[in-house]
Amino acid sequence: MQSTMPAFTETDLVLAIETSCDDTCASVVRGDSTVLSSVVSSQGIHAEYVGVVPELASREHARLVLPAVRQALDQAGCSLDDIAAFAATRGPGLIGCLLVGMATAKGLSLARNRPFVGINHIDGHLAAIRAERVFDPPYVALVASGGHTELMVARSDGTPAQVLGATRDDAAGEAFDKVAKLLGLGFPGGPVVDRLAKEGNPEAIGFPRAWLGLDRGRLDFDFSFSGLKTAVKLHVERHPLAEDEATRARQLADVCASFQEAVVDVLIGKMEAAARHHGIDRLLLAGGVACNSRLRARTTELAERLGGEAAYARPALCGDNAAMIGLVAVRRLRAGERDPLELPAVANLDDLVRV
Ligand code: KG4
Ligand code: ZN
Repeated sequence: MQSTMPAFTETDLVLAIETSCDDTCASVVRGDSTVLSSVVSSQGIHAEYVGVVPELASREHARLVLPAVRQALDQAGCSLDDIAAFAATRGPGLIGCLLVGMATAKGLSLARNRPFVGINHIDGHLAAIRAERVFDPPYVALVASGGHTELMVARSDGTPAQVLGATRDDAAGEAFDKVAKLLGLGFPGGPVVDRLAKEGNPEAIGFPRAWLGLDRGRLDFDFSFSGLKTAVKLHVERHPLAEDEATRARQLADVCASFQEAVVDVLIGKMEAAARHHGIDRLLLAGGVACNSRLRARTTELAERLGGEAAYARPALCGDNAAMIGLVAVRRLRAGERDPLELPAVANLDDLVRV
């Protein structure tokens, strides 16, 4: 049956919802790059457990999602009547959490008789940069957060970005979070490790780098961070943190700097190998770990060495947010795509083809 829905235009507004993990997010976007509002309600409830508790997260999403939607509309200066389409993160993510955002967007779509699209969270991370500047393929992208670590290549021929490698165990952000936890630094761990590392010596402790054969010439773009996390744990057991505050601060700074350097060395090494293998000199960092100051500096330096350029979004758009979901939705809607309300949420999206 021919759709009676009108075409989606450049000035139409999308209301997007993102609930794949522990942030309840809503946003109103317009066109290819205009973010009119981006509300991120971080769920403080997980700090007590020093990690995300999935069942608690979905209940919190159910409590917070409508207030987040209302706030996003208010901040954008519009009402539901002005929204031309609704979008939600379809996956990957925690299934109970995804269902809350999907059900909300579908319900609004049904009630307002406006189109609905379900969006791939990873595509969202790649699109966040559009709010800052034009940065279209070709590029090699690293999407690194608490839930995923994917090295990808996006070509200029319009084909979907391809996953070259992913983590075999902990995600990069998860490694930061677990190391921060064992050092007693709280949750999430990335920002505090990043801050303490600035005072430390990155060469103080020789933590292992899991090259998975890349150092022996094998083109393996997968990652592994669980061995590194164990190495930090063993180090701290063998060299307990001192009681004296100044000594303790120095020890913590050195452990953080050395751990961070081990993570960044591997992320940069694999990005460089992928860029050289595919003959691409443009690099995109996305996901919460893209906020890391050392990773940003070394990605910029790598891009200069390759003779190309590096891009990363402002910190607020690197972490999970709904604006990035809206930016993907706009392009799909403008291409005439619509999803049925039966579209299921998917915890693992393996339609990102592995080479
Ligand atoms: O994308 P995001 O907000 O949510 C997930 O999908 O997980 O990423 C959050 C992750 C957390 O693991 C956090 O520790 C990490 O990103 N992160 C950082 C930094 N800021 C956030 N990791 C390293 N350095 C940072 N500055
Ligand atoms: Zn994410």
